[in-house]
Amino acid sequence: MNHIQGSLIYEGKAKRIFSSEDPNRVLIEFKNDATAFNAKKRSEIDGKGRLNCRISGALFKLLEANGIPTHFLELHSETIMFADKVNVIPLEVVIRNIATGSLCRETPINHGTILNPPLLDFYYKDDQLGDPILTERRLKLLDLINASQKEEVEEITESVNKILKEYFDSLDLILVDFKLEFGFNSLGKIVVADEISPDNCRFWDKKNSDPQDRILDKDRFRQDLGGVIDAYEEIFKRIENFSSNAS
Ligand code: TMP
Ligand code: ASP
Repeated sequence: MNHIQGSLIYEGKAKRIFSSEDPNRVLIEFKNDATAFNAKKRSEIDGKGRLNCRISGALFKLLEANGIPTHFLELHSETIMFADKVNVIPLEVVIRNIATGSLCRETPINHGTILNPPLLDFYYKDDQLGDPILTERRLKLLDLINASQKEEVEEITESVNKILKEYFDSLDLILVDFKLEFGFNSLGKIVVADEISPDNCRFWDKKNSDPQDRILDKDRFRQDLGGVIDAYEEIFKRIENFSSNAS
């Protein structure tokens, strides 16, 4: 059942948010649209919405089971989930276990360097400004979160990283890095929002040492490597196999 009765509240690059009968709950529809480089590169990838919705649902459930507050409530259908209505904080919180991507473009750190402790950075979420990285002082100046909320966001991000890193390791996947977004729910509590999928995480296949073939995330789209949907399918398949073995 893919029919949504509520009205469209917001449309982003990869998702649409609809109202539901409950004012504190929304429906999030995952689209097939893919963008990169702040939407300068665009495409539509058949099946991506379904895979990202189901992967995110499974990962949010895993986090909730480990005591992490998230906006996720339940899946509604293959491409739609119910979530708490939140006021999204316009920050992208990126945590990296291995250096790649913008860290290697912007610093002399070599691709593949293991980052221990993991590196956590805040970016300001604004495509027009190119999602700029924030210094501690600029983050304070923007006043989007206070000092204790910043600490809370950092602690949650680090815990999510520990949980997901260990989980993906058991699926023979290396969690290279990922981006989280946070929001305030109706009680004013900070929760993990948005999605957790190959669109906003980097995964390398432990079973493959080829530097391109092992990539199982949106870098396949960003770098025109092909096989984008096969990579997302592979992530979903490993998550599903894990769940069916566990039950
Ligand atoms: P980066 O190396 O390009 O800064 O990306 C770090 C991580 O954040 C990577 O897992 C991809 C994810 N990401 C997003 O989810 N949205 C974005 O807009 C960007 C730039 C990165
Ligand atoms: N999410 C960003 C965009 O839509 C960039 C990225 O994921 O690389 O353009």
